Amino acid sequence: MDIQKETSWLLKEKYSGEPSAKFYKDVERLKAGEPVAYVIGFSEFLGCRIDLSKKPLIPRVETEYWVGEAIKEINGGRVLDIFAGSGCIGIALLKNNKKVLCDISDFSEDCLKQIRINLKINKIDKKRYKVIRSDIFRSINKKYDFILANPPYIPKTRKNKLPKSVINFEPKQALFGGTDGLYFIRKFLKEARNYLQPASTEASARGPKIFMEFDSAQKKEIEKLIKKFGYKNLEFHRDQFGKWRWVAIS
Ligand SMILES: C[S@@+](CC[C@H](N)C(=O)[O-])C[C@H]1O[C@@H](n2cnc3c(N)ncnc32)[C@H](O)[C@@H]1O
Repeated sequence: MDIQKETSWLLKEKYSGEPSAKFYKDVERLKAGEPVAYVIGFSEFLGCRIDLSKKPLIPRVETEYWVGEAIKEINGGRVLDIFAGSGCIGIALLKNNKKVLCDISDFSEDCLKQIRINLKINKIDKKRYKVIRSDIFRSINKKYDFILANPPYIPKTRKNKLPKSVINFEPKQALFGGTDGLYFIRKFLKEARNYLQPASTEASARGPKIFMEFDSAQKKEIEKLIKKFGYKNLEFHRDQFGKWRWVAIS
């Protein structure tokens, strides 16, 4: 989006069309390259308002797309949103399906604060979730019908190719997955099967299942990993722009 469009969006969303001294300060932030979502302070994700005051990864439209597909399939049961960032994935699920229980986990303290803020803004009943600080699965001690994951997956070698607004403003720990981008994906796939419920539970009639986001260039490697770790079924899917973007594993 160009700066003019961003400026008019900012004016409409944050200042109800009335430019003030604060608005002009915010325009300076845009000119310095800060992402418009941080300047506005929130974004929309599948009908949820996602506050971004603690500067988690800004939810992406590609993620919104596959989570929308996953929501159609998940009609109840226990879910884990791991690598949760702002909490957008778990919160969208909790808001759109009242029968779902969803634990939401991240390693970053700032993200945990952000997740709690967003659960409150979206009025999610406290009985339906737990927010868990965990280094990947280390502090997770339950089994789930569905696990939804958007791990950091950008190869460090692509650092110089990222837009300045991303590299200068978004959290590095949300972006990079080691030299080949697969550091977290490898660890996640290796362990995730131990955190899935046995297939017989009623709630997971269509599960247990893992939904995971990745970059299209990683598809082949990911297929190898999924097979290596002994999962039986896998289904790759494209995003709304035609790129391989997510995989459903059971
Ligand atoms: C790509 S972001 C995804 C955020 C959010 N789920 C979304 O889709 O917008 C990845 C997240 O993984 C978290 N993360 C990084 N290292 C982690 C670790 N070792 N254990 C758990 N979470 C980690 C980061 O803090 C970040 O919030």
